[in-house]
Amino acid sequence: MDAPAILRGVGLTKIYGNLVALRDADFSLRPGEVRALIGSNGAGKSTLIKVFTGAIAPTLGRVEIDGVAAPLGDPSEMIRRGIACIYQHSNLAPAMSVLDNIFLGRQPTRRFGFVDSARQRREARALLERHRIAIDLDATVGNLPTVKQKEVEILKALALDARVILMDEPTAWLAASEVAKLHDTIRMLKTRAVGIVYISHVLDEIFAVCDTMTIMRDGRVIAESAVADIDRPRVVHLMVGEKLARESAEAAHEKRHPRGTGEIRMSARDLTKRGVFTEVSFDLHAGEILCITGLIGSKRTELLRTLFGCDRFDGGTLQIDGRTAAFASPTGAIAAGVGFVPEDRHREGLMLDMTMTENLAMATLDRFHRGLMLQRRRMSEAARQAIASLSIQPPDGSRPVKLLSGGNQQKVLVGKWLNRAPRILILDEPTVGVDVGAKAEIYRILRRERERGAAILVVSSDLEEVFTIADRIGVMVAGRLVRIHDADDCRLQDIVREIGGAAA
Ligand SMILES: Nc1ncnc2c1ncn2[C@@H]1O[C@H](COP(=O)(O)OP(=O)(O)OP(=O)(O)O)[C@@H](O)[C@H]1O
Ligand SMILES: [Mg+2]
Repeated sequence: MDAPAILRGVGLTKIYGNLVALRDADFSLRPGEVRALIGSNGAGKSTLIKVFTGAIAPTLGRVEIDGVAAPLGDPSEMIRRGIACIYQHSNLAPAMSVLDNIFLGRQPTRRFGFVDSARQRREARALLERHRIAIDLDATVGNLPTVKQKEVEILKALALDARVILMDEPTAWLAASEVAKLHDTIRMLKTRAVGIVYISHVLDEIFAVCDTMTIMRDGRVIAESAVADIDRPRVVHLMVGEKLARESAEAAHEKRHPRGTGEIRMSARDLTKRGVFTEVSFDLHAGEILCITGLIGSKRTELLRTLFGCDRFDGGTLQIDGRTAAFASPTGAIAAGVGFVPEDRHREGLMLDMTMTENLAMATLDRFHRGLMLQRRRMSEAARQAIASLSIQPPDGSRPVKLLSGGNQQKVLVGKWLNRAPRILILDEPTVGVDVGAKAEIYRILRRERERGAAILVVSSDLEEVFTIADRIGVMVAGRLVRIHDADDCRLQDIVREIGGAAA
């Protein structure tokens, strides 16, 4: 007989004004079960998680823990009952030690007016031993690699005797090797009968670590399955519907255009920034997509920022359209026709309180000025087109960006620059947190820009993405661009081996 559920949601509904974020959703989790929660951007995954953490109260429905009704909208009570949550971005105090973070906000001897740190240390040690986690309790959290920070969050949850750990896109910013480590930790938690809810847009991860899955669409739970009983195409189909599933499958079989039209738009020779990257040389052509892949930390982001004029280089040359370019700031780069979608782990590229229309117009504001007047109507129309072409949900330009789901915020960030139709477009990890359907749309738009003759440079750690869109693939290892391949004549395993080059 199956164990009874530790966590259950029954008929959960959450309504925001005229938007139904969660619609009569049922959900249940058993001890030791790792359940994937998947669905397109805006499907309601984070909303469901927030109901379980008590961060929000549902409009209708109830939550049960061990068959007993739990209070709604009461975060500290949910923690007390063993429901913990870790997010994409850590909630830890970076300047404090691991030990202090584990007990943060929960001083065991508060009634004596001081913290019994010896006792905390003993408790923490016992915890590390019991769960066989290796971590230095005195390390400063901000200095730890991201995956270790996730472990600290997990420890923090275990210190509270968490029986359920909810993980909302825990791997969005982890390198592949770190994902594997997190999965090991999850398997360990499973043997301790902790129930886990795992949200991710990366289906490989779901198939690697989850037992069961719940698929959501438009706020509803539309399917549940054991992972062993379902395959990828079926999952994609359920998530995004038939049309998009077909498009994303077809997208993988596009013709490639190495070196595009042959016209060199951007040319780097021995570009060097001391201590960061060394002797980077490449030509980027009109009408091609060049992807640079590599490990997180291989200095790809630093390279892109330098190309766009955010940072300076101190050796080598950079030319745009055959002319020497040394941008003192992004303004110079924009004037030369360069667009840049930055890596945006914390949505710094967006004005969260402003509307989608305003954000989408931001990179192109100059076009909407006539004299001193801002042409609101044209601005709204341009935004409306961007919202439709990226299927941003909900398609309402007057909505503040902060109310969008994570993936939809990412789409606004990309859309903002695509609007400008730049001659050279540089994108850093453009589809992290973006669902399969929207990924296919972003790829389609990149291809459209390529057909238009734009020269496109993409940094991506997602090899499936790289092989889907690249005409040529560059591999960066420890600050050096070690090779550039024609995408048609290289194999995945070669790239994987080259990426690992310096690590071995
Ligand atoms: N505070 C809020 N006010 C109004 N609408 C909201 C609020 N929070 C979420 N929504 C809306 O609820 C819907 C579901 O959002 P949710 O964040 O749960 O999606 P998600 O499945 O987590 O998506 P993603 O994959 O992009 O993270 C979205 O349409 C979102 O815009
Ligand atoms: Mg979410």
